[in-house]
Amino acid sequence: MKSSGNRTTDNLQAAFAGESMANRKYLYFAKIARKLGNEEIAKLFEETAHQETGHAFAHLELLYPSNEMTVEKVLELAIEGELYETNQMYPEFERIALEEGRIDAVDEFREQAAESKEHAGIFEKAAKRFKALTLVEKYHADRYQKALDKLQESA
Ligand SMILES: [Fe+2]
Ligand SMILES: [Fe+2]
Repeated sequence: MKSSGNRTTDNLQAAFAGESMANRKYLYFAKIARKLGNEEIAKLFEETAHQETGHAFAHLELLYPSNEMTVEKVLELAIEGELYETNQMYPEFERIALEEGRIDAVDEFREQAAESKEHAGIFEKAAKRFKALTLVEKYHADRYQKALDKLQESA
């Protein structure tokens, strides 16, 4: 994760990362506990995982205040994140894994870089569609307003 230049923002990013990781980790632990036949512990992990999602969302609300967000903005943020993974994070991780002879990790980083690229492409397409749709809607709204103005002029 890139530094934002503001320590509290960076801490919110780190706290968000930690809570998000706890969520996925506990779901994974729940799967393990269930596989090992311990339903009670599996459920405990699942319930706690659910609460960690709430904690992560609370941090997100401060990082990306929902009243400041638009569809364009969230798509833009998503594209930025996926491209960071594709072009910076995974290539660097792959390079280090290669250096350390961790071929299992090299393969995983490579695969996930490709998937991040795919996600970026899907979000980019959605952003373009959204932009086109907004233009069409604006065209219709303008035309409607003109017709309305004309009607009022003649009244
Ligand atoms: Fe938590
Ligand atoms: Fe992704």
